[in-house]
Amino acid sequence: MIYESKPITLKDGTAAIFRSPSENDAQAMIEYLHTTCKETHFLTREPEEALIPLESEIQFLRNISDSANDLMIACEINGKIIGNCNISRNSSARTKHRASVGIAIFKEYWGLGIATAMFNELIRIAKEIGIKQLELEVIDGNDRAIHLYERFGFTAVGNKPNAFCLKDGTMLNELSMIKVL
Ligand SMILES: CC(C)(COP(=O)(O)OP(=O)(O)OC[C@H]1O[C@@H](n2cnc3c(N)ncnc32)[C@H](O)[C@@H]1OP(=O)(O)O)[C@@H](O)C(=O)NCCC(=O)NCCS
Repeated sequence: MIYESKPITLKDGTAAIFRSPSENDAQAMIEYLHTTCKETHFLTREPEEALIPLESEIQFLRNISDSANDLMIACEINGKIIGNCNISRNSSARTKHRASVGIAIFKEYWGLGIATAMFNELIRIAKEIGIKQLELEVIDGNDRAIHLYERFGFTAVGNKPNAFCLKDGTMLNELSMIKVL
């Protein structure tokens, strides 16, 4: 799916653009993923695992643009991608009423309302295409993200022990959260 570009103004007055990342953004998206995975341990990959081959990322972005079930919205500031979110709808008949969502923003831009604006868009679009339930996983202790999700009406429905194992051996639990639309 393609998202129609939209200008937004952040809490501090900075101008940003929400838009679909295209295959021309493949290198920028790899760098984005690498940076966000370096900045937090709340994402599934270690930074080095985020260094995806360029060709694979081009194909990945092409597939999303062509897909009826997947959508990405990137946030661009001064020509640079600094955040991204996605919605991914299940494809089989019995589960296509459900979609999962994900989000990550460069640390420098946290607290400016980008995630809030992105979730408003994701929820609007999900409703428009007939999705009945949004789902996500979040690591226990990611209070900023959990606060955001609860504010949007997500509730925790499960807690998976030892979902993440960090390099130093620390085990972290993972919450499953859902929002009925
Ligand atoms: C989680 C994340 C997407 C939030 O993005 P953001 O643009 O900073 O979010 P917003 O500015 O829209 O809102 C942040 C909210 O968290 C609140 N917050 C900030 N620090 C907090 C904390 N330590 N505990 C609880 N809430 C906190 C803010 O007050 C704000 O809520 P409010 O608008 O009700 O006051 C961003 O921090 C991020 O990318 N984190 C790293 C990747 C990640 O963890 N992704 C989620 C994986 S499940």
